[in-house]
Amino acid sequence: MKINIVDHPLIQHKLTLMRRRETSTRTFRELVTEVAMLLGYEVTRDLELTMESVETPLEVMQAPMLEGKKLCFISILRAGNGLLDGLLQLLPSARVGHVGLYRDPETLVAVEYYYKVPADIGDRLSIVVDPMLATANSAIAAVDRLKEGGAGRMKFLCLLAAPEGVKAFNEAHPDVELYTAAVDRQLNDHGYILPGLGDAGDRIYGTK
Ligand code: PRP
Ligand code: URA
Repeated sequence: MKINIVDHPLIQHKLTLMRRRETSTRTFRELVTEVAMLLGYEVTRDLELTMESVETPLEVMQAPMLEGKKLCFISILRAGNGLLDGLLQLLPSARVGHVGLYRDPETLVAVEYYYKVPADIGDRLSIVVDPMLATANSAIAAVDRLKEGGAGRMKFLCLLAAPEGVKAFNEAHPDVELYTAAVDRQLNDHGYILPGLGDAGDRIYGTK
């Protein structure tokens, strides 16, 4: 299983709060934003830097700045949008694309209903975000679509993954690095992650 598990204590603590059945919509949403920022720190660890001359109050020095064309976040609608706020606080100039997908509840196949990404996506690192990687049907379909649309290097960031999803995603897209806060035990018969945190979209938006 090829995956980066970001097991920082702050992330693990906040994830546990999110798993609690009694956590309110408001708190859940706040936690998603906070965890997204913390995961964002790790997923951007290898961004390239370039040295720039800067004048401090005392002298001139060469100091690092993020280099060139920055990155692009791709949100898998709708739950992926929950992660965007935190990530955009870290990288406010990042471009954002959206891939609208929902899981057919019977077949668990991902059905596309929207696609809009930056025109120069091929020149950017794309970080595809969705809180849950369950069967990975949605993630695989989104990355398939982005590759067809000319995307360049990609990473996939989620909060929680199932081992089945990690395996399927690695097989379909071995070139796309996965990042998550945890890998849970298994999927149930309806494709939900166990023990999981329930339906991420419903918990972020209070729709159930
Ligand atoms: C959820 C989640 C992922 C998908 C993961 O979305 O946000 O996109 O399921 O499951 P998979 O790995 O088995 O494809 P859902 O279809 O519930 O749509 P929503 O984001 O609109 O709630
Ligand atoms: N989508 C979710 O939101 N939760 C799961 O457990 C699986 C898919």
